[in-house]
Amino acid sequence: MGGAILAGLADSLHAGYAFCGYNRTPERMKPLLEKGVTAKADARAVAEDSHIVILAVKPYQAAAVLAEMRPKLGADKVLVSVAAGISLKSLREAAGDRCAVVRCMPNTPALVGKGVFAFSFEEDATSESKAGLMELFGALGLCLELPEARFTAFSALIGAGPAYVFEMMQGLVQAGVTLGFQHKEARRMVAALFAGSARMAELNPAPLMQLRDEVCSPGGLTIAGVNQLDRAGLPGLLVDAVLAADARGREMES
Ligand SMILES: NC(=O)c1ccc[n+]([C@@H]2O[C@H](COP(=O)([O-])OP(=O)(O)OC[C@H]3O[C@@H](n4cnc5c(N)ncnc54)[C@H](OP(=O)(O)O)[C@@H]3O)[C@@H](O)[C@H]2O)c1
Repeated sequence: MGGAILAGLADSLHAGYAFCGYNRTPERMKPLLEKGVTAKADARAVAEDSHIVILAVKPYQAAAVLAEMRPKLGADKVLVSVAAGISLKSLREAAGDRCAVVRCMPNTPALVGKGVFAFSFEEDATSESKAGLMELFGALGLCLELPEARFTAFSALIGAGPAYVFEMMQGLVQAGVTLGFQHKEARRMVAALFAGSARMAELNPAPLMQLRDEVCSPGGLTIAGVNQLDRAGLPGLLVDAVLAADARGREMES
């Protein structure tokens, strides 16, 4: 995730920005070097030379990396953590209370510049600093500010969301193959179907049920398929899936 964020930021070529990074496995920095990112010798050097420091290690690895960076953090810097489940309070403490901290939750489409990012800021963060950071990450997808208490709900709906979408895509690809399409062909068509439908839902403010009904000609084949989905209770199943993920997220927090 850290590599994807850095690659996306470097690609968007923000004037006035320079990018550096560190990974303990040097090969993982290689694709970034081609984008003009500088490799540093350690995490401490990244903290020393950066105004915005992005922490993107697994949650259990965060304490060690923050301990290493701590002496080089300062009031002129901001630490942005994408580590799931680490609160602003814990980040602030782990950073030795030396700099502002921001919590960020991306989802995997960030890897292709189409992510959704939730940000949670400390109470004293200025609107300029919030807007500046969200504008920077805007190159990687949709950015929104959320109270920290909403992070688990966001994770259950949007962080986990690509898994739900891929599952639905898989079902449709399977249907396509059953109807005699080549697997590759069905997958390509289904991916375009999701992208096109998502774009329509984004551009057209009409209720989603209206968009659905517009596809259903009276007595036609679409309504036959939609009736089957309604009998199976697809919307209710999706609600249950998100609520189960949210409940699990809350368990993991405590
Ligand atoms: N992937 C997602 O969908 C997603 C979504 C939202 C949030 N996140 C958050 O993003 C964070 C990273 O997740 P990920 O899936 O990208 O994990 P990952 O693939 O394991 O990436 C973490 C990287 O950090 C490196 N690393 C570990 N300890 C280090 C240290 N002390 N110094 C320098 N580098 C170190 C690891 O090196 P090695 O290669 O040597 O192990 C690895 O390359 C997690 O906290 C996760 O909660 C991920």
